[in-house]
Amino acid sequence: MVVTDRPITIVGCGPGGPAYLTDAARHAVDQAELLIGANRLLALFPDAKGERIAVGADINAALQVMETRLGQTPMVVLVTGDPGLHSLASPVVCHFGRARCRIIPAVSSVQAAFAAAGLDWMDARILSAHGALPDIDTRELAPVGKIAILTGSSAALHWIGELAVRLAPRRILVCEDLTLPGERVTEVKADALIGLEASSRTVVLLVRPEVLEG
Ligand SMILES: C[S@@+](CC[C@H](N)C(=O)[O-])C[C@H]1O[C@@H](n2cnc3c(N)ncnc32)[C@H](O)[C@@H]1O
Repeated sequence: MVVTDRPITIVGCGPGGPAYLTDAARHAVDQAELLIGANRLLALFPDAKGERIAVGADINAALQVMETRLGQTPMVVLVTGDPGLHSLASPVVCHFGRARCRIIPAVSSVQAAFAAAGLDWMDARILSAHGALPDIDTRELAPVGKIAILTGSSAALHWIGELAVRLAPRRILVCEDLTLPGERVTEVKADALIGLEASSRTVVLLVRPEVLEG
């Protein structure tokens, strides 16, 4: 199988700042005849010549659009951050098969969050509260020193606040709009997460105190 012959290329676009777009991503988009992605990802490539189809959060609708165009033209699907972490890439690969997909990796928002905190993430646990809240046994998380949670809604922040109380003591870093002009990293107490209005692009780090003090 020649990888470049695959009809679907899934391109990781990084956390949003244009400086975090890779040359590989730019090259794939430059070559694309058809670009599919959220409006704000399409906007990262103002000079791309290919046809553009904007898709929203409805994954089935996005897959349907791709289905109708498959075989007509090679297509590029844009995803936020790295394709391997809670992105449209998984349903696309699952639906169309690995043999039809090429994946271009990128910087994840989780990497950007740990970098902003000055921490490595080798032993981190990553959860997603983007969309649905995770169904997780808190006891499993108790020994974990670094937890990163993808979020973007008040309901998720509320859930994270309650989780932080159960896992106390934890230091809590709210990392919003990473790599973007409004980037903000704020340390808060657990009760401040309840009712907090944060960006729809937020990663919360729950870190055992000794990890940040080391
Ligand atoms: C559908 S997930 C995609 C994750 C992505 N694949 C990644 O590797 O970062 C969307 C979540 O990514 C996080 N995210 C994306 N961009 C971000 C940014 N610039 N700053 C903080 N969080 C971001 C937020 O938690 C958001 O709810």
